[in-house]
Amino acid sequence: MFVPDQQENQISIVAGFDIISLYKNPDVAYYGATIGRFANRITKGTFTLNDKIYKVDINNGPNHLHGGNKGFHAVDWEVLEINEHTILLSYLSSDKEEGYPGNLQVFVRYTLTDNNEMKIEYSAKTDQLTIINLTNHAYFNLNGIGNGTILNHVLAINADHYTPVDETLIPTGDIISVKGTPFDFRHPERIGARIDNNDLQLKYGEGYDHNFVINKKENELALAASVEGDLSKIKMDILTTEPGVQLYTGNFMNGNTILKGSHADHRRSAFCLETQHFPDSPNKKYFPSSLLFPDDIYKSTTLFRFYN
Ligand code: GAL
Repeated sequence: MFVPDQQENQISIVAGFDIISLYKNPDVAYYGATIGRFANRITKGTFTLNDKIYKVDINNGPNHLHGGNKGFHAVDWEVLEINEHTILLSYLSSDKEEGYPGNLQVFVRYTLTDNNEMKIEYSAKTDQLTIINLTNHAYFNLNGIGNGTILNHVLAINADHYTPVDETLIPTGDIISVKGTPFDFRHPERIGARIDNNDLQLKYGEGYDHNFVINKKENELALAASVEGDLSKIKMDILTTEPGVQLYTGNFMNGNTILKGSHADHRRSAFCLETQHFPDSPNKKYFPSSLLFPDDIYKSTTLFRFYN
């Protein structure tokens, strides 16, 4: 994805690969991928629906992450429509795939709008009660991929609360105030300003790897976060209908993966803001529900809006 800076230079702001097979490599961390059937973590890969226990892949320590080894990032999607502005993709995830119940038909439409936005619209239908949580896992560096870390990017998150985690990055179930913590991004702040603070939550994530509770009404398309590249001055707003957004500051990037443009994936050289239902919500009574019933249609929209 290229965005012009103030001098009209086209800046490449999303990390990716030249070779398609690398996107599916299980050792490569979900670059630019559509994540499903359930984005983020599920405790011990277990959840219960209608008194029946379901087990999904355990692929991240003791937990399930991002849909399992053959999550939606690792499958072939069918192209239903394509033109200069939009591409519509679909995938049929069959009953019991990665352990999830129900045949789930998923559609994802990417659209470039006339307001300098990349819009992602998700929809899905199931034939059995199931769980769903879809997101996009783009890694951004608004100064340009390969142009240093993202620690001096300036970030604001429209969240008074976040969901703290345990040492395996599973939410404790609490929803706590960001006030007085390194998680307070209600006013714009450098991503790196407090990232190495002596804080147990930051230790667990090796930096930020946490879900923020966006200040919004249910299903409302609202501002989740705004980020500015300190060098390029490119700004990005993220708006979403989802209740949460995961800030992941590339803490596990380790320089071992070579990205498009021959740049290594150095630690914290990109960030992700993954709009989502809260992690482990199938096991958390007080989190917004991620259930999808056979008569319902799942719908979710996220917009990335750019300025220079
Ligand atoms: C993030 C997740 C991180 C890490 C990363 C991929 O979405 O929250 O913990 O797994 O994906 O490396």
